[in-house]
Amino acid sequence: MGISNFTVRWAAPADIPRILWIDAECATLPGSLLMPAPPGELESGVLAGDVLVAESQHTVAGYLHLDQQYPHAVYVAGVAVLPGMRRRGMGAALLAAALGSADPELPVYTVTSPRNLVTLTMFFAQGFVGTWAFPNLFGPQEHRLGMRLLPSGETLPSVRRWHRATEFTRWSGLLDRGYAAVRVAISRGVPVLGLAGYPSTDSSPCLHRFQQPARISPPYAG
Ligand SMILES: CC(C)(COP(=O)(O)OP(=O)(O)OC[C@H]1O[C@@H](n2cnc3c(N)ncnc32)[C@H](O)[C@@H]1OP(=O)(O)O)[C@@H](O)C(=O)NCCC(=O)NCCS
Repeated sequence: MGISNFTVRWAAPADIPRILWIDAECATLPGSLLMPAPPGELESGVLAGDVLVAESQHTVAGYLHLDQQYPHAVYVAGVAVLPGMRRRGMGAALLAAALGSADPELPVYTVTSPRNLVTLTMFFAQGFVGTWAFPNLFGPQEHRLGMRLLPSGETLPSVRRWHRATEFTRWSGLLDRGYAAVRVAISRGVPVLGLAGYPSTDSSPCLHRFQQPARISPPYAG
């Protein structure tokens, strides 16, 4: 799994303190859209063999938690790279390694902010589409987009309309009406999401934890 000047490998228990620190560090940066992992989640993930790390010069700089403990699905519970190590392909390599190791028979899901330009870029580039809306999930304006990996062989449909990420509650109803978010771009300094016709009747078992009438409280990954 070596890629240019870093490597991607499965985390060992000895990596846990560093992974927790990376998660906390990335979640507390000003403007961060990463919710810190709930207590114990990353530790359990490492012990289950579900956490990948990216390492440069023997120092772990990023992690991805691929939760494979659901019976019928796989959930990308969190991904983070330290700010000084970003834009070198680590996040994309972590995701590619995770998807390459996941059971191809199982659907893969994740949840992220519709304003998270980099994360959306990364997930769309590797074949995810956004098909569920979770408005105000983590508080006012803290919306989340539920995404799934397209089944192998399916290609991304082309964009029919663009909407500002900041106006999520105005357009996210389209996700229940035959549209999916498939692209992200920047327009006038604001992330805009490209919507394509993509009817999805799928109801993710992983995302059920987000599907409740009242908002749940952080901390949750995503
Ligand atoms: C998301 C994150 C893990 C990406 O890590 P990274 O190592 O910088 O990512 P990469 O260098 O592999 O880039 C991934 C993609 O994003 C794009 N990208 C990276 N930084 C970008 C930026 N500042 N602006 C626009 N696009 C950017 C890259 O071009 C790449 O796209 P491509 O695969 O189509 O070429 C990292 O930005 C991060 O830790 N963010 C904070 C934590 C977070 O929000 N996690 C997700 C919560 S669900």
